[in-house]
Amino acid sequence: MKIVFATGNRNKLREVQDLIGSRAELSTPADHGITEDIPENQPTLEGNALQKARYIYEKTGLNCFADDTGLEVEALNGEPGVYSARYAAVNGAGEGHSSEANMALLLERLAGVENRRARFRTVIALILDGKEYLFEGIVNGEITAERSGAEGFGYDPIFRPDGYAETFAEMPLELKNRISHRGRATAKLIEFLTNR
Ligand code: IMP
Repeated sequence: MKIVFATGNRNKLREVQDLIGSRAELSTPADHGITEDIPENQPTLEGNALQKARYIYEKTGLNCFADDTGLEVEALNGEPGVYSARYAAVNGAGEGHSSEANMALLLERLAGVENRRARFRTVIALILDGKEYLFEGIVNGEITAERSGAEGFGYDPIFRPDGYAETFAEMPLELKNRISHRGRATAKLIEFLTNR
């Protein structure tokens, strides 16, 4: 089957295509002439994922899905959460979507804080033949004291999943995909698509 993944993020596309393999052929909004930023201004991950998928569906009429991810830190009452991409920018500590600035701010807010518990949560919204479905994936772990590793993207260098000694940025993609928030949400999406 063919399906549009509503993302402009090459890393995400790679991760998800890797998991879906030959079960579905993914295209991106750009492949359908949609080059503008897709709006995502809802107060929840679910709201943003649905907003992005609906935007693509309304423009193309094609089956599609979108994801939204947040890093939820216990000692910060779930922040940065839905603001993860713009964490530094909304706090006046950087511009746009800079992973470097976001990590720097998070490490600064957690300086001297003993509770490093955090989780990544991904919500995928699927629109299939006009009907909407949601899938969630969570991975629990800890925020490290400093950055380690060069793989992955975003907050990967400072997130160490439970049960592992390495951060996501120190893992091969195949391992991250097996245990990550997006990997788990994508597995649910794949199961749904293959069993329908
Ligand atoms: P969004 O889902 O693209 O809106 O991502 C929200 C924020 O979380 C961005 O700052 C991303 O860089 C970050 N993020 C999303 N997925 C991951 C991941 O798998 N690892 C690390 N950071 C991520």
